[in-house]
Amino acid sequence: MERCDELATHSRSAEHLERVHLSPEHAAANALVAGWMSEAGLTTWQDAAGNQCGRLEGQTPGLPALMLGSHIDTVPDAGRYDGMLGVLLAIAVAARIAGSGRRLPFALEVVAFSDEEGTRFGAALLGSRALAGTWDEAWWNLADSDGITLYEAFQDFGLDPARLPGAVRRPEQLVGYLEAHIEQGPALDDADRALAVVTSIAGARRFSLEMAGMAGHAGGTPFARRRDALVGASELVIAVEALSLELGTIGTVGVMRAYPGGVNVIPGRAEFSLDLRAETDECRDECWRRIRETAEEICARRGLSFEATEIYRADAVRCDPRLREAVGLGIRATGDADPIALYSRAGHDGVAVSRVTGFAMLFVRCAGGVSHHPDESVREGDVAVALDAFEAAVLALAD
Ligand code: HGY
Ligand code: MN
Ligand code: MN
Repeated sequence: MERCDELATHSRSAEHLERVHLSPEHAAANALVAGWMSEAGLTTWQDAAGNQCGRLEGQTPGLPALMLGSHIDTVPDAGRYDGMLGVLLAIAVAARIAGSGRRLPFALEVVAFSDEEGTRFGAALLGSRALAGTWDEAWWNLADSDGITLYEAFQDFGLDPARLPGAVRRPEQLVGYLEAHIEQGPALDDADRALAVVTSIAGARRFSLEMAGMAGHAGGTPFARRRDALVGASELVIAVEALSLELGTIGTVGVMRAYPGGVNVIPGRAEFSLDLRAETDECRDECWRRIRETAEEICARRGLSFEATEIYRADAVRCDPRLREAVGLGIRATGDADPIALYSRAGHDGVAVSRVTGFAMLFVRCAGGVSHHPDESVREGDVAVALDAFEAAVLALAD
């Protein structure tokens, strides 16, 4: 808990926790975590993608590794447990095992992924996708709100883009990936339970959307002659919620900008984002089809144009049965005889890591299901049983 507080001080602003990919705060957080990893008895390095890593050898040197971890970057005005709690629980498990002197039949690695949220460049999971070897060269040209490209940001951070392949892990180097994470939903709190085993992670797609019409005089232009892009976009935002409720998907518009942005000027262009998720990809894609259809109908009626650019796509993934069983065993070892099983509506690095090895997740209760908000909170008691369950899961796998 104290380490979560200390990590939260590495932020772009003191008022609002924000630590994005390849920022000075990211570098400071990596150094802090590296110190805790060494203290735990791990050999540490920062890989070619900016992920902070640590390793504890098994019975003999060079064995394939069980990777534990989560992410160290945040959303804007974030809470202090999303990602960070998982990294610190992983270090604590490694410290216990190192301290026990027991040598496992696999190496133990801890990784603090550099970018899970996609806050700075829009595309998410950049740290874990680099590790999984699914990097897309086109990403180098992604630019942040200051126009700095990912390529330049790598160099500014002291990384060499040409060396990125060095971060890739091969399947034979890994025996699996386990991640502990706050639930980011209310199910555990509503059920008054501390822990859950995750079954799968939702499929997600993100888009940059634009509606364009014609700017005009707010006073002089009759409604019948307006091509107001913001009103059109607003209609679509409402439709996203209605279609999501109808189809059981999860649609969110988190960013909206109107141009030219004058109080007495009719907006001629609206730029906005769409985050779309569902337990199955079919359901997600059907909802997108309906949203597109609605956008075209709105545009035909209002004399507007519509453009959509997909900036992120991750299909739904299932947790590995063997690893999931170990997480279940770990929870049972804490006295919860019938662990709750949940699918994750939130995305996680496991989505990317699943391309190179099996993964499973342990969910920890967060108050009211609040996350991506400064009021994100966990109970110390839940963190204690999470640590016991996580350790027991690792030892169950070793057995
Ligand atoms: O967006 C997500 O689901 C996660 O918090 N990155
Ligand atoms: Mn998050
Ligand atoms: Mn997270």
